[in-house]
Amino acid sequence: MDLRVIVTRRWPEPVERLLVERFDARLNLDDQPMARQELTAALHDFDAVLPTVSDQLPESIFADGLIRTRFIGNFGVGFNHIAIDAARERAIVVTNTPGVLTDCTADLAITLMLMAARRAGEGERQLRAGAWKGWSPTHMIGRKVTGRTLGIVGMGRIGRATACRAHFGFGMAIIFYNRSRLDDAELRLLGARQCDTLDELLATSDVVSLHCPGGAENLGLIDGARIAAMRPHTFLVNTARGDVVDEDALVEALENGRIAGAGLDVFVDETTISERLKALQNVVLLPHLGSATEETRVAMGMKVVENLTAFRDGREPPDRIF
Ligand code: DGY
Repeated sequence: MDLRVIVTRRWPEPVERLLVERFDARLNLDDQPMARQELTAALHDFDAVLPTVSDQLPESIFADGLIRTRFIGNFGVGFNHIAIDAARERAIVVTNTPGVLTDCTADLAITLMLMAARRAGEGERQLRAGAWKGWSPTHMIGRKVTGRTLGIVGMGRIGRATACRAHFGFGMAIIFYNRSRLDDAELRLLGARQCDTLDELLATSDVVSLHCPGGAENLGLIDGARIAAMRPHTFLVNTARGDVVDEDALVEALENGRIAGAGLDVFVDETTISERLKALQNVVLLPHLGSATEETRVAMGMKVVENLTAFRDGREPPDRIF
């Protein structure tokens, strides 16, 4: 019998086509995010649920005894929106999509770093508003990133790809903070130095780029005290998860010029962006675009199909989280 599968949002067309060919798949053609009740019903009615970062699957949703779902195939690498322990207790297999979004997310971290340091968002807003009065030697002066120090928090795939771009593209010195000790050929090629503490990294970097997972383990990692450890000319870039940063503390620091600026692709609540944040000129705000290229989004979807197919065929899904 075919697996009954539900996809919570619209996915790239080639992936949806393949899902429908291989499985008894229900698509979400109008792309409306599913409400809590609908997600609960999905866990009752479908063998496999294919959610993404915009869906919340907290512990409570796994609480009752009627769950039919045996497989959750997340469209995305980050899975802090899924209560993994609760899913595990229910013996539900959970997979994600690592690897295929590394380059595009690193590209976006570099985009944000340059936009923030070179005041690109601010400049574009000024020009579009008709407020630019023409070239002048003192107009909208930003900061040079070439030759500066980039501090990477979380030296996984995306952290490394960002470091490579910054080092080989902009001659930046790389320092990093990572929970486990790392020492390998790639890091030596980058001349990357591991900091013993996060505070040391924050106090030494000209740009700090976050690449650690979100969720409980890193909740509010960059809080007011940590922001205060950064120097006033430093920029903060976040393409990881909004909850890694205490957003109120960041807003306050940006309002007071405590740090030079920030580039953010992720937010604590991505459906309601803070008005105070939006009012600031020294922050670049992007709508969670890290993996948003055609190639990457198709590859992410294909990875889910590969994992789901392996599960159906009784093989080990390649990207099983546990
Ligand atoms: C992920 O995969 O976790 C990203 O944040 C979505 O682009």
